[in-house]
Amino acid sequence: MGQAWGFGKYGGPEVQEFFERPDPVPGPGEVLIRVGVAGVNPLDHLLRAGLVPGLDGGRPFPRVLGMEAAGTVLALGEDVDGLQVGDAVFGFALTGGGTYAETTVLTAVNTARVPAGLSATVAATLPVAGTTAVDALDQLGLPSGATILVNGVGGGVGLAVARLAVARGLRVVGTGSAAKREQAEAAGAQFVDYAAEDVVAAARALVPEGFDGIVDLVGGASLRAVAPLAREPGTVVSVGDQSVGEVGGRFVERRLGRENLEHAARLALDGVLVPVISAVHPLSDAPAALAAVEDGHAAGKVVVEVGLSRS
Ligand SMILES: NC(=O)c1ccc[n+]([C@@H]2O[C@H](COP(=O)([O-])OP(=O)(O)OC[C@H]3O[C@@H](n4cnc5c(N)ncnc54)[C@H](OP(=O)(O)O)[C@@H]3O)[C@@H](O)[C@H]2O)c1
Repeated sequence: MGQAWGFGKYGGPEVQEFFERPDPVPGPGEVLIRVGVAGVNPLDHLLRAGLVPGLDGGRPFPRVLGMEAAGTVLALGEDVDGLQVGDAVFGFALTGGGTYAETTVLTAVNTARVPAGLSATVAATLPVAGTTAVDALDQLGLPSGATILVNGVGGGVGLAVARLAVARGLRVVGTGSAAKREQAEAAGAQFVDYAAEDVVAAARALVPEGFDGIVDLVGGASLRAVAPLAREPGTVVSVGDQSVGEVGGRFVERRLGRENLEHAARLALDGVLVPVISAVHPLSDAPAALAAVEDGHAAGKVVVEVGLSRS
């Protein structure tokens, strides 16, 4: 048995609860891990609200929250290649096992070894935000010297995009609220405070010729406002708003799988992909961790440390 945190039915934060659950049994293609660190993502509260049923694995309630983790392999299901008991790993829990728990199952094809020299805390942030940042920039495919706007630069994905883009030789302008200025500028971005100034006018003043690409992490009216700042509508990509096609842009196609996790880990080791971890909460404080992200104004990545000393 181990402690887990999740929800007893679909709903708001009031349906969240701590409970004990037996260690899950890894099915074919799954690995059981002892969770060291779990990453917190907006997707977690969307799953709790029942808004993305295709991703919750259809498991019985109570369900465990969390989509990504780093930890240590305790057992292998059938048909698992390339991993062994005792390996330090990180990856996705894509079949609804959840990661805010002492033990969980990850899908083996979406699990990779944590390379020596990379912390479990950083590794736990790579499956969602880290690989999304890589995918967004790869799909823009801009050359060194190009200029991009990162709409929503202060969050988990935004700061990773900014740092990665700067490392690729891009000029970066990022939007966010005042509290994000310092981290955005530390990442090498020029900053536009959307709460204090007219975002479109301020961004246009910085880059009058128009942006070579826009990575949108906010969506909605904000996306629609900034999209015309791109020189070509096709160079607007969004990871959060599927309706981006209505402004001529593209939704970022996600590349999952072990190879892409390994690639992200190498970039992290090389100091090219640098997740900014703003808060580390113990499992007992998971409600505060998710509340910080659900608020919509998180800074960088928030993580939940579950059993780091034993992983
Ligand atoms: N497709 C995928 O696989 C995938 C993967 C990862 C994330 N996502 C999605 O991408 C989005 C961002 O994820 P995340 O993990 O980076 O979220 P996050 O860590 O919660 O950050 C969101 C950021 O947006 C900022 N923001 C909110 N309104 C804004 C506005 N009008 N203009 C500029 N910035 C604004 C927030 O802070 P301030 O307002 O204080 O600046 C916050 O820093 C979410 O919708 C998430 O679901 C999708």
